[in-house]
Amino acid sequence: MTEFDGIQEEHNKIPRGWLLFFIGLIVWLVWYIYSFTPEISGWSYYKKFEQEMAEARKMPEVIPTENPYEHNEKAIAEGRVIYTENCSACHGEDLKGGVGPDLTEHLKYGETDNKKFESIAKGRGGGMPPFGQQLGRDRIWKVLAYVDSVREYGKPH
Ligand code: HEC
Repeated sequence: MTEFDGIQEEHNKIPRGWLLFFIGLIVWLVWYIYSFTPEISGWSYYKKFEQEMAEARKMPEVIPTENPYEHNEKAIAEGRVIYTENCSACHGEDLKGGVGPDLTEHLKYGETDNKKFESIAKGRGGGMPPFGQQLGRDRIWKVLAYVDSVREYGKPH
């Protein structure tokens, strides 16, 4: 404490809270620079992105258990085109079979939406090719909506 012309100047200490905050800030800054500088920590935005993508790829694709396009006329019409282009050569124009089995009768690999989806997406051992990559989930459901409408009504409905 200094005295000057009778006036006392107090030396106020920095409040403890401020000091802690200030030190914390420096620590955080050093940590931040350290961890986000590629040359030091090897951190890289692209690496992180790659990791996240790899994680996402590992996750099993969730297949809905019911056909979202069942009885949807527009989807059935699209499905009919998909069927003609991709399936009719083996299963016949009328779905009554050819190289592949009749699709209007009992399906041995299962008749639930999700079994039928699996037959088309992953293929089946006895000569049914997988269409998962080629058609994608949406168009598989559409072609299935078409197949099912023929199964149900004997013709697209
Ligand atoms: C190269 C010929 C070929 C093409 C193209 C083809 N299939 Fe098949 N499919 C088959 C054969 C053969 C089987 C029987 C497989 C077995 O018994 O293991 C089959 C089986 C199936 C089954 C399962 C039948 C059951 O009894 O469970 C479904 C459903 C099916 N196909 C739908 C389709 C659809 C939809 C398409 C078009 C996207 C398609 N297939 C294209 C040959 C083909």
